[in-house]
Amino acid sequence: MLPEKIKHRLEQQIAGAEHPRELVVDVMFALQEHFGYLSDEAVAEAAGMLDMTPLEIEELATFYTFVYRQPVGKYVIHVCDSVVCWMNGVESIKDYLCRQLDIADGETTADGLFTLLPVCCIGYCDRAPAMLINKKAYGHLTPEKIDKILEKLKTEALQKTE
Ligand code: FES
Repeated sequence: MLPEKIKHRLEQQIAGAEHPRELVVDVMFALQEHFGYLSDEAVAEAAGMLDMTPLEIEELATFYTFVYRQPVGKYVIHVCDSVVCWMNGVESIKDYLCRQLDIADGETTADGLFTLLPVCCIGYCDRAPAMLINKKAYGHLTPEKIDKILEKLKTEALQKTE
C-alpha cells in the first residue's frame, strides 16, 4: 500500500494535469521508487490513480527500459548494447561484469546488490564502451575501471548498513 503522503502528492499532480495519463511515467517512477520496482500492486495502484486499466499500465511499463517489473538490486547496471559500444568491445566488458558479479545478463547478485541489464545508446558514444549505474554514466570502461567502480559501490553499500 502506498503511503498516504506519496499518494496525496501524486493525486494532486494528476488533478493539475490536463489529461491524467500525461503523468503515467511520473507515477510509475514514484511507485517504483517506493516499492523498489513496479510490482503488480504498484501497477494496480497506478491504474486506479490514473483511471487506466492495469493492462495499459503494464504495456507502458514494459516499454520503458528504466521501469522494472521484477525486483532489482540496490545498484542497477545498464550496459550499453548499441553499435558504437559494440564496436568498442562492450561484449568483453559485459562478460567481465558477469564473471565478477557471478550472474548472467538480466540477473541480480545473491546479496541483492547488483542487477545487470542492457540499455540502448546512452549518448556516451565518444566514451564507449559505456554503462549506467543507477542512472550515473561511466565510460571508457576497462576491467580495471570496473573493479574500482564495483569496489567503491560495495564499500558504499556496506557503510550505509553500518
Ligand atoms: S553506442 Fe553506447 S553510448 Fe552510444
